[in-house]
Amino acid sequence: MGSVVLFLTLTLLAVSSSTVKSCPPSDRAALLAFKAALHEPYLGIFNSWTGSDCCHNWYGVSCDPETHRVADINLRGESEDPIFQRAHRTGHMTGYISPAICKLTRLSSFTVADWKGISGEIPDCITSLPFLRILDLIGNKISGDIPADIGRLTRLTVLNVADNLISGKIPPSLTNISSLMHLDLRNNKLWGEIPRNFGQLRMLSRALLSRNQLSGQIPSSISKIYRLADLDLSLNSISGPIPESLGRMSVLGNLNLDGNKISGTIPASLLNSRISNLNLSKNAIQGQIPDVFGPRSYFTALDLAYNNLKGPIPKSMMSASYVGHLDLSHNHLCGPIPAGSPFNHLEASSFVYNDCLCGKPLKAC
Ligand SMILES: *[C@@H]1O[C@H](CO)[C@@H](O)[C@H](O)[C@H]1NC(C)=O
Ligand SMILES: *[C@@H]1O[C@H](CO)[C@@H](O)[C@H](O)[C@H]1NC(C)=O
Repeated sequence: MGSVVLFLTLTLLAVSSSTVKSCPPSDRAALLAFKAALHEPYLGIFNSWTGSDCCHNWYGVSCDPETHRVADINLRGESEDPIFQRAHRTGHMTGYISPAICKLTRLSSFTVADWKGISGEIPDCITSLPFLRILDLIGNKISGDIPADIGRLTRLTVLNVADNLISGKIPPSLTNISSLMHLDLRNNKLWGEIPRNFGQLRMLSRALLSRNQLSGQIPSSISKIYRLADLDLSLNSISGPIPESLGRMSVLGNLNLDGNKISGTIPASLLNSRISNLNLSKNAIQGQIPDVFGPRSYFTALDLAYNNLKGPIPKSMMSASYVGHLDLSHNHLCGPIPAGSPFNHLEASSFVYNDCLCGKPLKAC
């Protein structure tokens, strides 16, 4: 009797573990439909996508250990993985991202990055994946808009669609993603204004929007994002002044506004802040450089070239604790270049094409 019970128990355990442990047939079917819309001729990364258990040894697929639902798809075209080393090349894939992935309703991380040739659009239904935390499609040829209701992805922490052909506006709903920490939209074809309430993204630490066609002004609400360390709006068509409050942010270290149509003067706050990499070059900034440098000023790079700055080089720059790379060229500055640190290690190229700067490293006054 006892042994019969034991036998039945073992049989039940074996049956239940084999059915529970392999991925649900619907997840497997969704993955196979995703694979069918892609073409990867050089590495054979999809060769492992066979058999019934998609949770086991399918390249780039992982499942939740408890639910055995597909949780991560992680396919990177540039990787140290042996599959790449054996092929002596980076990956290349064509095709498109099938809406079938929206059936993977437990998906938490979806990375299909650096395959260079994947085109088509981001399926709109992706915004119905309630557990999605990471969406990383960098380095493909994806076009179309960012889904209008991207704001439904309330758990999203990483949104990276950089280096694609994405057009349209930044959807207003994006500022509803309150958990977003890393936003990378660089090098696409986005146009229109940065939403005025961008500062609602309180968890954001990196906002990288460079190399698009964004216009309008820099929303001053950005300065409410306490954790923001990196703000890159370079190479767009942004106009208007620089909000003075950007210089009072507690961790902002990199501020790249170069290559826009920014006007007005340099807010004094920027020169005496936590910012260590400040690029304002190639804008229409005017007035004098504020004479407010001090021991808090620490610049690995300070690039103010190609603007309409006039007046002298401020003497207080000598009290900055560090200025590594300085570019004041192509402005209308005038007067003697101060002698001593940081000016004594700089070359003429930092000062050329001004109205009447003089002294070392330019010619004597
Ligand atoms: C943002 O979220 C709020 C609250 O859920 C909602 O009322 C609003 O319509 C959302 N905004 C957009 C643009 O989706
Ligand atoms: C600042 O931006 C300009 C224009 O985009 C670029 O050419 C320059 O290299 C940048 N300066 C630094 C120090 O990175």
